[in-house]
Amino acid sequence: MTGSTTAHWLAEKEIADIVLVDILEGMPQGKALDMQQSMPIVGKDVRITGSNGYDETANSDIIVITAGIPRKPGMSRDDLLATNSGIVGSAVESTMKNSPDAIYVVLTNPLDVMCFVAMKKGNLSRERIIGQAGILDSARMRAFVATETGVSVENIACYVLGGHGDEMVPLVRHSNIGGLPLDKFISRERLDAIVERTRKGGGEIVSLLKTGSAFYAPAAAVAQMVEAILKNKHLIVPCSVWLEGEYGLSDMFFGVPAQLGRNGLERVHEYELTPAEKEMLDASAAAVRETMQSLKI
Ligand code: 2OP
Repeated sequence: MTGSTTAHWLAEKEIADIVLVDILEGMPQGKALDMQQSMPIVGKDVRITGSNGYDETANSDIIVITAGIPRKPGMSRDDLLATNSGIVGSAVESTMKNSPDAIYVVLTNPLDVMCFVAMKKGNLSRERIIGQAGILDSARMRAFVATETGVSVENIACYVLGGHGDEMVPLVRHSNIGGLPLDKFISRERLDAIVERTRKGGGEIVSLLKTGSAFYAPAAAVAQMVEAILKNKHLIVPCSVWLEGEYGLSDMFFGVPAQLGRNGLERVHEYELTPAEKEMLDASAAAVRETMQSLKI
């Protein structure tokens, strides 16, 4: 669902032709055909193709990897590790053959570690491999703050950094509503509840859907990244990127404010953190490292 929903958001933006790939026979072809037939109605000239192989993806500018099994109720993102690392690794190997210059955007969970798998398999430079999680986590927080205050989502800026797991770090002090601090609008107690709900936001949807995980918001987040790259927007958004000393962390993918343009990752921006914020970020980093250590590739 995340792949086809990403295609849907991207087609609406009319910024790229799209190829959907899945192992299920007929599924990507059927979805692509259905979406293609909606283009005259919405007035977008986008070509959407479905395939069970990779030939049609040749010379892609961007490869979005959403493939993998999703969580079922009671599972953590880390429970998906072994199965999804095989799927992500083979998707990278197969796409690299005919799109050697593509930039990769990864959505498969456990997200930060799947980015590492993709980087290793493809021997990619850090500019070319970016994980989507922080835009989604931040959007969840923004949605909760909007509902709580009644203020337009457009006025609400929230920043969630760290690994894409329950230890993620919603940065309340850096978030704002029209430039004003969140605690001007929301009590400390309600803010704490919003932070907690944001951290568990993916799990909340898994337990409601019962058959899979979220797809509208994760896909919208991927589409925003793809647009930033294709349009060379130099957009700063929270993404999972390979760290080389930023925030005191190295040799791991982790959610930080990343600037995206036509060559992929352009720059990592560093917030000034209080000791308490740094401690939360380090706890999140430790959780990502623990998952990395159980990886066998
Ligand atoms: C989420 O947070 C699936 O990890 C994704 O909903």
